[in-house]
Amino acid sequence: MYPEWSERHAAVALERLWPRIAPTLELPEAEQATFEARLHQEWPRLFRLFVELYGQHYDCFYHLEQLLIETANSWSVRPAWLKQRDAKREQHPHWYLDQQALGGVLYVDRFANDLNGLRQRIPYLKELGLTYVHLMPLFDAPAGNSDGGYAVSSYRKVSPALGTMEELAILAQDLHNEGISLVVDFVFNHTSDEHLWAQRALAGDLTYQDYYFMFPDRGMPDAYEQTLREIFPSVRRGSFTWRADAQCWVWTTFNNFQWDLNYSNPEVFRAMAGELLFLANVGVEVLRLDAVAFIWKQMGTRCENLPKAHVIIQAYNALARIAAPALLFKSEAIVHPDDVVRYISLDECQISYNPTLMALLWESLATSEVRLLAHTMQHRYHLSAGCAWVNYLRCHDDIGWTFDDADAQAVGIDPYGHRRFLNNYYVGRFSGSFARGLPFQENPSTGDARISGTLASLAGLEQALLAGDERLISLALRRIVLLHGIILSAGGLPLIYLGDEVAQLNDYTYAAEPAQADDSRWVHRPKTNWEQIERRHDPSVPEGQIFSELQRLIRLRKNNPAVCGGDLQVIESGNPHLFGFIRNGGGQRLLVVANFAARQQPFESNRLRVYGPGYQFIDLVSGKTIAADRTLMVEPYQILWLTPA
Ligand code: GLC
Ligand code: GLC
Repeated sequence: MYPEWSERHAAVALERLWPRIAPTLELPEAEQATFEARLHQEWPRLFRLFVELYGQHYDCFYHLEQLLIETANSWSVRPAWLKQRDAKREQHPHWYLDQQALGGVLYVDRFANDLNGLRQRIPYLKELGLTYVHLMPLFDAPAGNSDGGYAVSSYRKVSPALGTMEELAILAQDLHNEGISLVVDFVFNHTSDEHLWAQRALAGDLTYQDYYFMFPDRGMPDAYEQTLREIFPSVRRGSFTWRADAQCWVWTTFNNFQWDLNYSNPEVFRAMAGELLFLANVGVEVLRLDAVAFIWKQMGTRCENLPKAHVIIQAYNALARIAAPALLFKSEAIVHPDDVVRYISLDECQISYNPTLMALLWESLATSEVRLLAHTMQHRYHLSAGCAWVNYLRCHDDIGWTFDDADAQAVGIDPYGHRRFLNNYYVGRFSGSFARGLPFQENPSTGDARISGTLASLAGLEQALLAGDERLISLALRRIVLLHGIILSAGGLPLIYLGDEVAQLNDYTYAAEPAQADDSRWVHRPKTNWEQIERRHDPSVPEGQIFSELQRLIRLRKNNPAVCGGDLQVIESGNPHLFGFIRNGGGQRLLVVANFAARQQPFESNRLRVYGPGYQFIDLVSGKTIAADRTLMVEPYQILWLTPA
């Protein structure tokens, strides 16, 4: 709870400030009224959060006043079509929970060369049924290694190889006209060392040195490192980088050229708020908040998931509600499941990656058992109303085994040994493994590692094709469909990594590229092979088989309310290989049963009667009718979506 004086001070401050700011905006009367209504609604919250962050700072209120001016200015130049969209979204804010909603993610250059090329590909995005497209970082970044664009040199300039900011704005509107929301990254934990702020800091400008964490000697870095986790241990040990050109150590959680921003400085908060609102006015509808866990530092802690990180995001959320109400935040917190959920609320990030489900689906495939998945989903899947998981199977990053140790122990699994097993399994060091992944960031001190690889290669298709074994190929294809069948029926917003719809395999050519060779994540970021996509209607090749199955599942999802609606209730399947859950929506009940084993598995008839939606069902996936009077035999890696016949 916050002291009442804060409410009152907020009101007084607004009463004093607003009459001075309003006339300078020269807004039409109706627009001014709209803005004022939102401002009055959100100002007390913004005020409270800002004071919580910077109340001890000598010029806190100066910055708050500037922030208000900047926010009002941002709204006054917001394009008309975006103001219309704001109004529409305020009426129907939870569009991402709609059963039509489907996400895709791609690299503009790898998929279509540049922004103009991408515009030509909009029909393909529509053919897939996408309503949300995340373009991987497309801003100006250092040449060579830029961590795939996650080292941003300017948030207001598109990388020249991809196009211009004007083209991005046009694309945003084109996509919007086709019913597709534009999603881009907000890489706000760090900038590249080529960003103007970093350059000025290097040149000795004190103001900009305070934008980052720069230390003249090892004193502070050593003290912080007592409690920090190493994120990229194979890049460099520790979290700081020595800059000979400025004779100082700079905080770099990720690569040496990614400088962490210092949010304890209110100027940094304001400067980044400006970049955020700028992107909102280009037409971006969802900002993927990159690396949220790391944005606040405090000596003696891990400097991950600290309470003030939440306060910063909530304050940005309040700003968005005032000046760009349609704008949503997606949290990228690839951390412990307890911490992941803390970023998710209507006041913070409305949607979030679901790394726990992602990791546990792969865990279940490796073990062919579902106890950890079922146990975890039972008590960790529920979100508060209006929020949504972004359910995905893999992304541009590695896969880490972010399940909870106590969850594992509760089902008789030793978490440490299990993570080792999973790493060995997915890099093919375990005999009998179907997967062809690569290790990422193996830590020599802790033995930790994460996994790289495309969906198809991790699911066994690469190995099966090499062996030329039809049975193995068919099993791999089934695994791919099974995984998609889960994320398409589990609620939330499913997200497809473009290329996975045609079963793209690992691309090992990165090893010959000096800027990529040290980063195995490039193995799963291949260039789109459009010839492969051309084969998507050929039923005799994996591309065609996967594409048509996915198309079918997507169509079923879009046409059956239960697939999207209501909560998800995990059932006791009575078989360690079968994962099952119930969904209710639009008056329809759906029972999903998924077999994670390579052998047929029985699902008892009495359970069918308890959980099933009646006595006779249709399996939407196969179109077959099933009766509850006998044991259901579930084929290897089969997934059933059962609705009443
Ligand atoms: C996020 C990105 C990842 C990047 C890191 C640093 O986790 O997904 O690719 O390396 O942030 O920006
Ligand atoms: C760590 C971070 C995550 C990032 C990843 C990149 O796991 O927690 O944010 O995506 O590293 O590899």
